[in-house]
Amino acid sequence: MKNKEVKLTKKNYEKDAIQEWNRLAKDPFHKIEFDTTIKFLKKYLPKKSFILDAGGGPGRYSIELAKMGHKVVLFDLVPEHLEIAKKKIRKEKVQTKIKDIVEGSITDLSKFENNSFDVVLCLGGPLSHVNPESERQKAINELLRVAKKGALIFVSVMSKYGVLLATPLGWPQEVGYKKHFENLVSNGEDYKWRGDGYCHYFTSTELEAIFAKKAVQIIEKVGLEGLNVSPEATNDFAKKYPKAWKNWLAIHDKICTDPVIVDLSGHMMIIVKKK
Ligand SMILES: C[S@@+](CC[C@H](N)C(=O)[O-])C[C@H]1O[C@@H](n2cnc3c(N)ncnc32)[C@H](O)[C@@H]1O
Repeated sequence: MKNKEVKLTKKNYEKDAIQEWNRLAKDPFHKIEFDTTIKFLKKYLPKKSFILDAGGGPGRYSIELAKMGHKVVLFDLVPEHLEIAKKKIRKEKVQTKIKDIVEGSITDLSKFENNSFDVVLCLGGPLSHVNPESERQKAINELLRVAKKGALIFVSVMSKYGVLLATPLGWPQEVGYKKHFENLVSNGEDYKWRGDGYCHYFTSTELEAIFAKKAVQIIEKVGLEGLNVSPEATNDFAKKYPKAWKNWLAIHDKICTDPVIVDLSGHMMIIVKKK
């Protein structure tokens, strides 16, 4: 593994691997990302698919999909995530559905043959940690290569306008550093992710343009968290006003594919079909 950003990403995630297991279930704000993603997986996945969960971390989606009857290969950069996944898989008794657990980078999926999977996932932003642009292209080519003809590919990434929307509440120090902030706005680049890591924030136009050049049909784009400016405010709202929260979620379900919501969400997902 030669790439500097990949090394830093690995270091940043291995520091607190269990937090990645907790992330999507820890509060109402984070649950929106998980529930919205699952809703779209359920909408499109053929029954009993063979799925690659690339950048699958400690396996939240792998386990959920295994429970639905799919067969899954879990793939991630960080061995600590995969160790947690092994324990959780045993606890949830889905060992027979998890066909393999493989360590590596999405920029090199050579462990898998061409046209292997019915569905390929790259969820929660693994692609946002890949730099430079040529490496992101490489990763996308790999995700498409291992997908069968007609397979669905789901990729979710961090959003530029989503992060900018959250800046006044969440990132005063980073905005205070003018050069860094300007670079984030013009190029979507954050070299200070979790201290010294790398994160690329996408616009939906940019994400769609990458896939438009590949042999795929673009199915849909989704804003995963919807109109949220701060996790704290959302969690407070959900806890204090459960009835209002239920109404909010029902509306989120209706508007999450609106192009404005796609760009303003913290994470956006693109769903494509390999031609
Ligand atoms: C925010 S987590 C999302 C994990 C999981 N997909 C989810 O949504 O819960 C991002 C994941 O991407 C993985 N990752 C980052 N860069 C990667 C790379 N180059 N190759 C494979 N995985 C990578 C990290 O180890 C981490 O598990």
